[in-house]
Amino acid sequence: MVGKFSRRDLGKGFGAAFATAAIGGSGTAAALQRTHLSFPKGFKWGCATAAYQIEGAVKEDGRGATNWDLFSHTPGKVLGGDTGDVADDSYHRYAEDTQLLKNLGVSTYRMSLAWSRIFPEGRGKPNPKGVDHYKRVVDNLLENGIEPYVTLFHWDLPAALPGGWQNRDTAHAFADYAGYMAGQLSDRVKNIMTVNELRCFTDLGHQVGIHAPGLKLPAAEVNQVRHHGTLAHGLAVQAIRAHAKRGTQVGIADNTTFYVPVMDTPEHVAAAKKATREMNAMFLTAIMEGRYIDEYLTQEGANAPKVQAGDMAAIGSPLDFVALNIYAPEWVRADSSPKGYATIPHIASSPHMASPWLIVGPEVAYWGIRQVSELWAPKVLYVSENGASADDPVQNGRIDDADRVMYLRNYISQFQRAVSEGYPLKGYFLWSLMDNFEWADGYSKRFGIHYVDFQTQKRTPKLSAAWYKEVIARNAVV
Ligand code: FCB
Repeated sequence: MVGKFSRRDLGKGFGAAFATAAIGGSGTAAALQRTHLSFPKGFKWGCATAAYQIEGAVKEDGRGATNWDLFSHTPGKVLGGDTGDVADDSYHRYAEDTQLLKNLGVSTYRMSLAWSRIFPEGRGKPNPKGVDHYKRVVDNLLENGIEPYVTLFHWDLPAALPGGWQNRDTAHAFADYAGYMAGQLSDRVKNIMTVNELRCFTDLGHQVGIHAPGLKLPAAEVNQVRHHGTLAHGLAVQAIRAHAKRGTQVGIADNTTFYVPVMDTPEHVAAAKKATREMNAMFLTAIMEGRYIDEYLTQEGANAPKVQAGDMAAIGSPLDFVALNIYAPEWVRADSSPKGYATIPHIASSPHMASPWLIVGPEVAYWGIRQVSELWAPKVLYVSENGASADDPVQNGRIDDADRVMYLRNYISQFQRAVSEGYPLKGYFLWSLMDNFEWADGYSKRFGIHYVDFQTQKRTPKLSAAWYKEVIARNAVV
């Protein structure tokens, strides 16, 4: 338990609200609605997207090529040879997409900037057309009453940067870009996220090789790439603070791997929390603690990253908020090994959504928020992504994605549990506003609550959009 009130106190509040409404007669139904998994007033509901996944227009207005342009145009790297060349064409249709958001009733929107639209070569002279484009997008959101949360790097790395993330200089180039954009946008953007999902753009790109740039490097080099990623985040936090208007809130969007206790008993709960801290030692743990913990350094030995003076202080720069992308759980149980825990592998019968990696385990939503709160006591937490791929058959013009609704309802219920216990979760961004380029899966996996016909670019709300609209309107799980 953290925060000012306990679950018991909240229960008292609920009791009072229910009693009042019951006396009011016709208010009873509304009160029941409020008492059922409701969120506090002011909870921020939003949707999330990312530049390369939706924008298209890859050669327009001076945009430089990125690692994902090169990767997706390399035969065999993305399913079906799909690329982000056109994607949702949101570069041209952003005003239409703002209206989708407005119709849902969201108060916030998480979007990312394409670094190579601002600095086509990754560094050097800024491209005013790129800057102006994002000012227009942001202004359009604000005019419609939607608060933008801007991510500076969602994996589309300017291809001109020599060595990419293998080169420490890239971390400095990122910080320069971050500081520059903070200066340009912080009069209208109050919340900035540095990077999206450290583990994905480092490990998936450089160890597993299924994301750009498609490398399978040895352990020492992978650890160095990871270090450059966290360093880029830390240097960017410093640069943003140096260039942004006072009061700008800075955080990260991380896909921390969360270990869910197999049962809610003290020994398993403690084991799971320990696992989460240790298994994320190279990412969020380093950022929140400003050091690489001994368990990680011992485990990696000679392969541990080479760290320069000042790096860890930068990496550990205090954050205004921590945002988490929460999807699949890992299961863990306490055991008598020296570590004190054993992870439990997923098996064929583990339920999953259309993406095989997307194991369904709603409890991870609750435990993720709770573990981060207990381990590091961040001031503010957001869910920067949560959502699901589904098959989405189109029938008579309708897309009744009841399975996605099931997924969302169960996860959001677990986030509600975390909020009701006092953990400082202040907002939720659903991934995604609309179907888009799903990285190595191309357009084969749909995550949107709006269906996109990629031939015509027509957007159609799915059942899940209608459902999310109700959740937002009632500020409660429906
Ligand atoms: C996350 C990514 C996001 C999207 C979802 C499904 O890992 O941040 O861009 O692909 O998964």
